[in-house]
Amino acid sequence: MQTLTTTTKTSFIYTNLFVNNFHCFVDQMTTTFTFIATLVSFLLPLVAAYGYNDLEITSWCGQTPHPESCNYFLANNQYYSGPVIKQKPDFVKALLKVTLERAQHAESNTRGLGPKCRNKLEKAAWDDCIELYEHTVERLNMTVDPHKPCNQYEMQTWLSTALTNLETCRAGFQELGVDGYMLPLMNNNVSSLISNTLAMNKEGGSPPDNYQKGGFPTWVKPGDRKLLQSSNPASQANVVVAQDGSGNYKTIGEAIAAAAKRSGSGRYVIYVKAGTYKENIEIGTKLKNIMLLGDGIGKTIITGSKSVGGGATTFNSATLIVVGDGFIGRGITVRNTAGPQNHQAVALRSGSDLSVFYQCSFEGYQDTLYVHSNRQFYRECDIYGTVDFIFDNAAVVFQNCNIYARNPPNKTNTVTAQGRIDLLMQILCPMLVE
Ligand SMILES: *[C@@H]1O[C@H](CO)[C@@H](O)[C@H](O)[C@H]1NC(C)=O
Ligand SMILES: *[C@@H]1O[C@H](CO)[C@@H](O)[C@H](O)[C@H]1NC(C)=O
Ligand SMILES: *[C@@H]1O[C@H](CO)[C@@H](O)[C@H](O)[C@H]1NC(C)=O
Repeated sequence: MQTLTTTTKTSFIYTNLFVNNFHCFVDQMTTTFTFIATLVSFLLPLVAAYGYNDLEITSWCGQTPHPESCNYFLANNQYYSGPVIKQKPDFVKALLKVTLERAQHAESNTRGLGPKCRNKLEKAAWDDCIELYEHTVERLNMTVDPHKPCNQYEMQTWLSTALTNLETCRAGFQELGVDGYMLPLMNNNVSSLISNTLAMNKEGGSPPDNYQKGGFPTWVKPGDRKLLQSSNPASQANVVVAQDGSGNYKTIGEAIAAAAKRSGSGRYVIYVKAGTYKENIEIGTKLKNIMLLGDGIGKTIITGSKSVGGGATTFNSATLIVVGDGFIGRGITVRNTAGPQNHQAVALRSGSDLSVFYQCSFEGYQDTLYVHSNRQFYRECDIYGTVDFIFDNAAVVFQNCNIYARNPPNKTNTVTAQGRIDLLMQILCPMLVE
């Protein structure tokens, strides 16, 4: 790394990239946290509802940021025929139901548009959208799962993720300069329905105080905490990847493919021995609780070189993509070597909820670390880049991380870029730490 211009040592950064770039710097050892929730309460008149009718729906919808789409889909029995809406939670449920239903509809509509792509760029952006719509439907479905009721914060997190996905789909067409034809065909009201749901779900006390204990967030399970703190975590590997043939697999891709066939979704540790692995890896939504354990920064290296300059979308340029929830990375370096002249070129993209990266390095130029969505924790990591190199919509904590700004092609460094598109996205974030 010969081209460093600036180094920032973070002792503790809580940032929610879409609320504010580097919202706060806090020294964990010496500072008391004061969380100031800047949430504006909606004081709602409780509408007495003796039965469901259009007038009541209109009144509820009047409290949302997009009353037209709310009315259109709710005050119209074709889309909504649910229980009587008496109180706000009933209304949120109704919104969720209709939002999920419309998202599924939009997903199949988008899928059907494939043959209309007129060139490679439209096809590249459309491919991302298919995946993003799928993830949106999955996340929305998680918010209504009767077997695993989610709390208000999770609901807000997942709704934010769903909205981020749709925005990422749109951005893909825009960045490739092909937003004129396909995007209008994909037109739907799902984003405004999600925004409405975010707004109506928003009320509640202060966000959970997640990031204070023992160096890891409180949501890290005891077994995972042990793995993270263990001095010999490799002894707990389920499988071993080694280029010299001494493990179960020679490539990480093979180990991931095998992990996809495992039964259950418990913690699954893939130990990747030292070596430079030229692979583009994706850990998909169905692959939960995977751990990639390396031999350390600069020893176990995953490297790729896709970039927007080379015809990929930012979304698809990442060397390592993680969307399965509960991911842990420890002791690995992830690189994108496309170079500063090739514009956006991501090393890691993570949308893994409750993910941890410990003692990892992310090395790239523009857009190195794509913290796409959900809740993520980085500790003792190194992040290298030139422009916007930590960016997008997740609720992220960087603790004891080194942020290295490399020499940019045109002498301007920007460390973070937020991707917020809705003021109410993510309840975890609107807080100040002093
Ligand atoms: C979106 O909602 C508007 C009402 O706000 C409605 O007129 C329009 O038909 C809807 N579009 C789609 C594609 O459903
Ligand atoms: C939603 O999740 C349930 C399981 O929790 C599953 O059976 C159902 O098929 C899912 N629906 C969609 C639309 O993904
Ligand atoms: C520097 O590069 C960034 C990213 O490519 C670009 O947005 C910006 O306009 C450039 N600035 C100058 C002065 O060329």
